[in-house]
Amino acid sequence: IQHIGVYTSGGDAPGMNACLRSTVRTALSNDLEVTGIRRGYEGMIEDDFVEMDRRSVSNIVQTGGTILKSARSKEFRTEAGRARAAENLKANGIDALVAIGGDGTFRGASKLQQEHGISIVGCPGTIDNDLFGTDATIGYDTALNTAIQNIDRIRDTADAHNRLFLIEVMGRDAGFIALNCGIGGGAELVLIPETITEMDMIKERILSLMSAQRRSTIVVVAEGDELGGARGIEQALREDPSFDDIDLRSAILGHTQRGGSPTASDRVLASRLGVAAVEALLDGHTDVMVGMVNGETKLTPLRNVYSRKKSIDYDLLKLTQILS
Ligand code: F6P
Repeated sequence: IQHIGVYTSGGDAPGMNACLRSTVRTALSNDLEVTGIRRGYEGMIEDDFVEMDRRSVSNIVQTGGTILKSARSKEFRTEAGRARAAENLKANGIDALVAIGGDGTFRGASKLQQEHGISIVGCPGTIDNDLFGTDATIGYDTALNTAIQNIDRIRDTADAHNRLFLIEVMGRDAGFIALNCGIGGGAELVLIPETITEMDMIKERILSLMSAQRRSTIVVVAEGDELGGARGIEQALREDPSFDDIDLRSAILGHTQRGGSPTASDRVLASRLGVAAVEALLDGHTDVMVGMVNGETKLTPLRNVYSRKKSIDYDLLKLTQILS
């Protein structure tokens, strides 16, 4: 390998810049040339490439977002789109790639590798933490901390008015953020897609919590929960006369969870994985993701990353019940 390309793709996550910095500097210190590909697969198809040196990744370890920008590309899902991308990579002399993103990014990477023989190593970058093969993804810890800080703020106002708050957090169809910020934020109830939630059960639980003279009640709802998120549950509660006397609000934390300066833990994880990705390429690996499992870097075939479901910790779910 002489020349690597690096890109960020899919939903951005805090720590992607730290991972870019680490990838670029590790590659340069191994005498590799490095090209940044802007806007993920969109930029790969449109030949939106930029040469990277040590200075081009200065002063970014602490920033959210991604200096290379990100996108979700429809065209790359077609064979013709991938062929154009591969032609551009070849024309620019790029013989290997580091892909920073989530499962959609890795599905695309695997196809590019299979159809065009380009070596690719993935780094897990998504706030959702839903990738098999790593204990945590880059961005997850920051998003979790942002969610907890916002829950704390909402708790103050909920308490002042004795209100019931439904707080919706991100995570796509996984409940990692919800479960952990529910515990850390002292939520009375946590609803996640990994468990079956019935509206009657929720109503009963909330009424019993509120009748125990609580000052405020917080229900954390994962956006992927089958009952329609915070808004869906709010509507169902408002339609039920038993909730007439309950002062109820909902808040959707949304993209606040995607931004902000990465936590120490995300910066270190991202830096370690960037190094590991370049080393994996130099060792001849391809079609794998580098992850961190029990404090050690580990390679997992990309097809396992996107075809296996990472399980939540069911002991944590029990904890939410004990602590509420
Ligand atoms: O995958 C990251 C994520 O933030 C999910 O938690 C969320 O469902 C989705 O991306 C939102 O995507 P977009 O920014 O395209 O609305």
